[in-house]
Amino acid sequence: MCVAHQGELATPGEFVLREVAGESLIAVRGADGTVRAFYNVCRHRGSRICEVARGRFPSVIRCVHHNWTYELDGRLRGAPHSSDVPDFDADALALRQVAAGVWEGLIFVSLAPPEPLEAACAQLRAEVAPLTLPMRRAARSIEYDVAANWKLPFENYAEDYGRTRFYSIFPNLFVGLHPDYAMVHTLWPEGPARTRIHCDWLFLPEASGRDDFRRDDTVAFWDKINRQNWHACELSQLGVAVRSNEPGSIAAVFDREYLRTMVS
Ligand code: FES
Repeated sequence: MCVAHQGELATPGEFVLREVAGESLIAVRGADGTVRAFYNVCRHRGSRICEVARGRFPSVIRCVHHNWTYELDGRLRGAPHSSDVPDFDADALALRQVAAGVWEGLIFVSLAPPEPLEAACAQLRAEVAPLTLPMRRAARSIEYDVAANWKLPFENYAEDYGRTRFYSIFPNLFVGLHPDYAMVHTLWPEGPARTRIHCDWLFLPEASGRDDFRRDDTVAFWDKINRQNWHACELSQLGVAVRSNEPGSIAAVFDREYLRTMVS
């Protein structure tokens, strides 16, 4: 799953918190510049370590329950009243890590052994690379609370066959490529009939100094389109939730990928 654009983790210690399949995950940039992801679970008594959605760890990740501290790469640094216990094995008590990687400036995590990112996204590289996504920064972000199952916005995006520069990457990422900006949506299920959708508008940092920079116009235009699309999804949710509905297949590619994932 895509958890963020790398601009959110620009410097060591910056992190975002994400919930994936019921697990709380911390994605953080280490002192060596590498982005890693950890379960948000202390190795001492299992407390949740981090409670805020994003921020910057000063130099270590600290669990406030009994003050165990971890390096930004997950290694246990300090364990008060424990580290002098015979046979205490600090090396075995690093934060549990999940797979994380960066592709074209987008950070992905996987709880299961992942397919290599380059292979998974190979078909998109030629399209996406000229947009220099890694160099862009979010000039504006909006979160939408949509009363629909996450699969409905995904189908909505995937089935719009007329759009040639819009890509959906299963299971939670949409990328819209425009000549001078990009739009990145990530989907976050909040329940069977509720989805939080995070949208970033990414521009090159130097664009804001140009006379013809129209960030607000761009955002207002797409915000209106987004809301129309999410409303269509909410109408679909109301329709598919009743017994009189007979399921149909609309976005066949999405349906096949969803089935492949569910049975694998
Ligand atoms: S549970 Fe984290 S330090 Fe004790």
